[in-house]
Amino acid sequence: MAKKTLRDIDLKGKRVLLRSELNVPIKEGKVGDDTRIRAELPTIEYILGQGAALIIMTHLGRPKGQPVAEMSVKPVAEYLTAKLGRSVIHIPYGSEGEVKTAAAAVAPGQVALLENIRFWPQEEKNDPGFSRFLASLGDVYINDAFGTAHRAHCSTEGVGHFLPAIAGFLMEKEITFLQEAVDQPKRPLAVVMGGSKVSDKIALIENLAGKADYLLFGGAMANTLLAAQGKDMGASKIESDKLHIAREMMEPVGGLGEDSQSESGIGKGGQKQNRCQIYYPEDLVVADRFSEDAATKIVACDRVPAGWMALDIGPATVKAWSAVFDQAATIIWNGPLGVYEMPAFAKGSAGVARAMAASPAMTIVGGGDAVAAVMQAGYGEQMSHLSTGGGASLELLEGKKLPGIEILQDK
Ligand code: 3PG
Repeated sequence: MAKKTLRDIDLKGKRVLLRSELNVPIKEGKVGDDTRIRAELPTIEYILGQGAALIIMTHLGRPKGQPVAEMSVKPVAEYLTAKLGRSVIHIPYGSEGEVKTAAAAVAPGQVALLENIRFWPQEEKNDPGFSRFLASLGDVYINDAFGTAHRAHCSTEGVGHFLPAIAGFLMEKEITFLQEAVDQPKRPLAVVMGGSKVSDKIALIENLAGKADYLLFGGAMANTLLAAQGKDMGASKIESDKLHIAREMMEPVGGLGEDSQSESGIGKGGQKQNRCQIYYPEDLVVADRFSEDAATKIVACDRVPAGWMALDIGPATVKAWSAVFDQAATIIWNGPLGVYEMPAFAKGSAGVARAMAASPAMTIVGGGDAVAAVMQAGYGEQMSHLSTGGGASLELLEGKKLPGIEILQDK
């Protein structure tokens, strides 16, 4: 990686200011899904092992620049204390003077967690004065908060103007997998795209159109693409005001013609332009209403009955896509392929997760929903990389520059 990482600097006896992504769900004062905390432990343990004094900053939720009791990081401090086997000092919300005094008392080998950084109104404004204050708490700034790297806030970007800014291990891992998978992928590169809105994926398609060898579309966004091809999608969720955008955005990959529909397997029907082959769902799981106990059936993509709605990709689609995955050297998946929260409509996403797990390719899953679908299906351990960033991973795949990465020192 081109950025300096923890391994490139001497931390012994230093005061380290670490921006972590510990924005985890809290239920009744307890940490829920701890994936982000577990992902952060290697960086924290390494810094402490080097004999540094560690002050961690994170946000939790969106308190809008004021203290909100339910969004306190205290449960995270307690959880970290148990995980690390050493006491994590909680530095409460307060004046700059109070915070400074508490942070200065953290000795080498000790770790403190500053209260939710978004309680301070200056944070999200990227206020230079507050960035300078935060910088005064440490000798070096480590940014490991990949999940917030798309935000230019004091703790994610501003501090880096006043202290040497270095990537933590999680940041390094995320950049290595996501950026390199797009910039220098092992080919063929297959990109699976789902999610509800075509309009959310325009930049992603624009960036990947010239890079991917296969683009595979599922989820509600595929309904809009199928509708734009002239198919009657019944009562399916589509963005009817975005059909023209769907047509325009597919131009770089050769348009939206009927002939672009893959019949089955590799090589059939893929677009010829731009050497990128496009796959739409061949079949769909349709339901007579949006409900877990709705009547369901599997139909071809152009046979959605009137009044029924597509809520998942069907088994023929999973089979055809599996053949693509068997050929691919890199697979990136962003966005769910069905209403995976309801078991009746989770089989498509689970089937794709299973096929990715079985593929010899490097497999990367980005975005909160796709990661949740993979975890729910039980294939999390078998993916090469599950990104901890939702919006951040999407923006990176879109080819955008992320402020929290840009600020990091180059090697
Ligand atoms: C996330 O959960 O996606 C990150 O923590 C960023 O949160 P935000 O969208 O509130 O900035």
